[in-house]
Amino acid sequence: MSRILVTGGAGRLGRTLVAGLAAAGHDLVSVDRQVSDAPELAGVEQVAADLGAPGAAADAIAQARPDALIHLAAIAVPFSAPEDVIMRANAGLAVSVMGAAAAAGVGRIVAASSPTVLGYGAPTGWTPERLPLDEDTPPLPWNAYALSKLIIEQSIGMLRRQTGDAVRYAAFRPCYVIAPEEWAGAPTQQGHTVRERLDDPALSAPALFNYVDARDVSRFADTLLAAMGDIPNGEVFFVGADDALAREPLCELLPRFHPGTARAAAELTGTAPAFSNAKARRLLGWSPQHAWRDELGERVAVSASPRQENRLD
Ligand SMILES: NC(=O)c1ccc[n+]([C@@H]2O[C@H](COP(=O)([O-])OP(=O)(O)OC[C@H]3O[C@@H](n4cnc5c(N)ncnc54)[C@H](O)[C@@H]3O)[C@@H](O)[C@H]2O)c1
Repeated sequence: MSRILVTGGAGRLGRTLVAGLAAAGHDLVSVDRQVSDAPELAGVEQVAADLGAPGAAADAIAQARPDALIHLAAIAVPFSAPEDVIMRANAGLAVSVMGAAAAAGVGRIVAASSPTVLGYGAPTGWTPERLPLDEDTPPLPWNAYALSKLIIEQSIGMLRRQTGDAVRYAAFRPCYVIAPEEWAGAPTQQGHTVRERLDDPALSAPALFNYVDARDVSRFADTLLAAMGDIPNGEVFFVGADDALAREPLCELLPRFHPGTARAAAELTGTAPAFSNAKARRLLGWSPQHAWRDELGERVAVSASPRQENRLD
């Protein structure tokens, strides 16, 4: 059992992550701008603080005295604020929150980055060398949100050069997070429902049809925290579902929406996603347990036709 401080614990991902870690037996403190009345946070210790205010992160950490910190607080949507505001908020929060945690001797520090660091959707074009994308794919951010997330990953390297390996660090890049209520029809981060994203591939194309169930991210965080003393320090992980959020194979869909991807996308037959979760499987033994076809009741019985089998799994 660990005492875990989660910044941004009242957010879309934070609520499920905090609830999952509490259910796994940990002692949670959620720090967010306001105390939330979300049912997932009932019974969880909550602290209201603007972590961007001078000294606020250090104060919250000194009061909570956590063994581990998961930093989620951020402006979480690209272009949802002016570029310089996103950059200052996300990069500043990373340095103040993770820096304060390292200075306070918190032993395990984890930060949420984003797949967008890779630069897909750049107006000048994006041609991946190979698909699926993984942690070896070079980051090429093209907007302030993506660049701020790369700075968050780089802040870990910076802090590690200050503290050495006595403090264990990791970053994770969650795919498009689907909270449990969103399977039932609540709007997802971009305002439309999961079914609308499936019915109109143009909605999911900007995220390369990626997704992950928030409960799987919570289990990922639990598994990661337990393993951090035993894996190389400062690792970055993609956290995504085993399949794509699409009804057609990505070898057909990706080139339609992202010119320049046809050659690499030829690998993505059947339900294969654009992002590999193999590193989290290999280093942590984590694998996602939720898939959209099960959640939406669209799992079709496997047919005898080879072509259809290929499209199913
Ligand atoms: N949701 C996704 O699909 C997704 C995908 C990739 C990465 N991420 C990252 O995961 C993290 C969580 O995302 P989310 O979807 O839950 O976002 P969210 O906007 O729902 O939650 C973020 C939370 O951070 C809090 N916060 C922001 N600034 C703060 C400050 N100065 N002080 C205190 N609290 C502050 C907000 O109040 C909010 O509750 C973010 O870092 C985001 O960039 C999310």
